[in-house]
Amino acid sequence: MNIFLKIKNALKNSNKSYIELKHHRKKSDDIYSLAILQSLLVGYPYLPLNGGALRPVCIAYILNEIIINQRQHILEFGSGISTIIMARLLKKNGLNARIVTVEHNEAWANNLKTYLKNEDLLQFVEVVRVDLKEITTSMGAVHWYDYKALSMAIKEMTFDLIIIDGPPANTSKLKHSRLPALERFAPNFKADFCLVLDDVHRKGEQDLVAFYKGKNKNVSYEIISETLGVFRTTNKFNPIPIHY
Ligand SMILES: C[S@@+](CC[C@H](N)C(=O)[O-])C[C@H]1O[C@@H](n2cnc3c(N)ncnc32)[C@H](O)[C@@H]1O
Repeated sequence: MNIFLKIKNALKNSNKSYIELKHHRKKSDDIYSLAILQSLLVGYPYLPLNGGALRPVCIAYILNEIIINQRQHILEFGSGISTIIMARLLKKNGLNARIVTVEHNEAWANNLKTYLKNEDLLQFVEVVRVDLKEITTSMGAVHWYDYKALSMAIKEMTFDLIIIDGPPANTSKLKHSRLPALERFAPNFKADFCLVLDDVHRKGEQDLVAFYKGKNKNVSYEIISETLGVFRTTNKFNPIPIHY
């Protein structure tokens, strides 16, 4: 084998090992975080945690943020297991906070409301169900939550924790679907806020991060466990649930 081929193979193998290492690190972050979440899972109705939900490490990060940095006004785009676990936390810890969660899928929203009602959690959550509609953005037209209906529901409300995990943006056609939350909703963010954007390992979300960083030079940015992008306007206690 000539030297160039040997080098090429060595690089290929080291890249493969690096990807595997990252994968295992993510898995161990999730296993560790699942242990932290036990007090909000054991003794409650079973939750179908699957690939559609935020990773355990992301959920644990958000719960820690709510407690450590006393977030009270939570806005979530893309409802699900995350909504239920956050609501359980508010109830269990007697926190004075509320969640507005935005969902496009009617059946999913109804399921969620049933779950919340059965656990007496609707007092903490407002589920805003709106259709997806075409909306113009600086990156072209995308399908996002019906802006008019959503603006009517949210009105002048402002939020100190914003979670962007919807609408679906998992194909190249949909890759910028989550941009309007960043482009249009700044007036609904409090001066001191934390904004988490899931799936920042994907090209589409990386475009959104670059866009938002470019427009907001004073907002800090970090990535948690490869997939969760976190923007902050002020230095706060660090809610990261893992240590290396
Ligand atoms: C990425 S998911 C949002 C997940 C949610 N934030 C959570 O952590 O459970 C985006 C959309 O997919 C649908 N969805 C939510 N949870 C799902 C799940 N576990 N499996 C499949 N689809 C889901 C909903 O319509 C939601 O608005």
